Amino acid sequence: MSETKKVFIKTYGCQMNVYDSERMADTLAPQGWREAETAEDADLVILNTCHIREKASEKVYSELGRMRVLKAEKAERGEKLLVGVAGCVAQAEGREIARRAPVVDMVFGPQSYHHLPSLIERTGNGARVVETEFPIEDKFDHLAPPSREKTIARGLTAFLTVQEGCDKFCTFCVVPYTRGAESSRPVGRILAEARRLAEAGVREVTLLGQNVNGFHGEGPDGAAWGLGRLCRALAEIPGLDRIRYTTSHPRDMSDDLLAAHRDLPQLMPWLHLPVQSGSDRILAAMNRRHTRDDYLRLIDRIRAARPDIAMSGDFIVGFPGETEEDFRATLSLVEEVGYASAFSFKYSARPGTPAAAEAEQIDEAEKIERLARLQAAIDSETRAFNLSRVGMTMDVLIEKPGRRAGQMAGRSPWLQAVHLEGAADLLGRIVPVRVDAVGPNSLAATLVDAAGSVVAPPLVQPASVGAAT
Ligand code: SAH
Ligand code: SF4
Ligand code: F3S
Repeated sequence: MSETKKVFIKTYGCQMNVYDSERMADTLAPQGWREAETAEDADLVILNTCHIREKASEKVYSELGRMRVLKAEKAERGEKLLVGVAGCVAQAEGREIARRAPVVDMVFGPQSYHHLPSLIERTGNGARVVETEFPIEDKFDHLAPPSREKTIARGLTAFLTVQEGCDKFCTFCVVPYTRGAESSRPVGRILAEARRLAEAGVREVTLLGQNVNGFHGEGPDGAAWGLGRLCRALAEIPGLDRIRYTTSHPRDMSDDLLAAHRDLPQLMPWLHLPVQSGSDRILAAMNRRHTRDDYLRLIDRIRAARPDIAMSGDFIVGFPGETEEDFRATLSLVEEVGYASAFSFKYSARPGTPAAAEAEQIDEAEKIERLARLQAAIDSETRAFNLSRVGMTMDVLIEKPGRRAGQMAGRSPWLQAVHLEGAADLLGRIVPVRVDAVGPNSLAATLVDAAGSVVAPPLVQPASVGAAT
């Protein structure tokens, strides 16, 4: 394809979809596709969808309604618009989408993204294409890696998928069906991608996987490496000063990963470790294969390895059969752990999952009430955690200009947004700051020198804020 065409990718759902959308754009770039800012400006729109809860997957059909109107408007002007549906709804409901929404030209699941150029070609004479097989070959071998130019445009932090799919089959969850069986990328490819990111200026990488701590990629020595060993190798890449990973399952926190938290300053003191419920009865019904006590003891071990680690989690309220007593067990677990932040969701019955077939579904009103109580408990812990940072000196990665002139904004090791007075040349640096106050959405801080003293005005003297570039 020689003329320039434009693609607009709209992303729903988790970080893995964000990563996949970037890879789709990177794979189309050599074919002459540039990214459009809006659907109106595009020749191809791809909706990268999420199936995790009913609300998420309904969004696809309302968006497709808009695409139908846009396609008709474009046709009146003699322009063409191709519409593709990718992601987890495509995987779960491919044929149904094609049947319900004639506007759609292509439906393709997460394991087919490397076929995108040929899928587009196949729509050439008006054919409609559905591809939701799980092919044998590894898509990562064929997907384009991020180019240096695009990495720079995307900023100082990046996602990197290291593991995909899930074999855990929690009874509420669609992911094992939409993302397929668990598999890990080879270590060599991950390190090569991470090096390219670092060379383009990325300072912080978040390793992604549905069960990222179950990572078992083949190492250069032929042995299966765990996530701890992978983190040690990543920590040696110059410039890559911050490493995070998400999402983890409590059953897969190995001793080596705990040791990596103890040993690696690059591994940020933040762990998203979903538990879903504090009731053993519900945990068993969810097929989580751990108890409340297993989870709490694990957190003790994690904190022993890395005392400043902050915990984050996911919770589901109103799982079938959940009683007030079960729910109170969740509230008391939240209290016992003291989360720095957590996500909570109303249980959503998903077609094809075992829990959806349970007789004892919980009333919507009950779910709403429990969700509000749980969120109030989590919010007060988040507030307490944020307040506990006031007066503390911490390193902040400066990521962008702040809202007001003369301000810069960044992230703390605990993923908190931080703003401070400072000049634009702080961008990309990791600088020590002192936290002064907790605002509604971010911490207010002042630049200090490495010894913790406030840097005297003018605030920004590059020589006095450390050499991190
Ligand atoms: N792989 C991750 C999370 C996957 S989905 C893990 O195992 O933890 C992200 C979160 O969505 C889950 O942790 C869970 O809290 C929530 N979730 C998944 N299925 C859900 C459902 N059917 N209804 C409500 N929330 C759900
Ligand atoms: Fe879903 Fe459970 Fe797998 Fe997480 S571990 S992706 S919640 S099945
Ligand atoms: Fe959604 Fe698929 Fe991610 S269902 S949460 S986009 S793995």
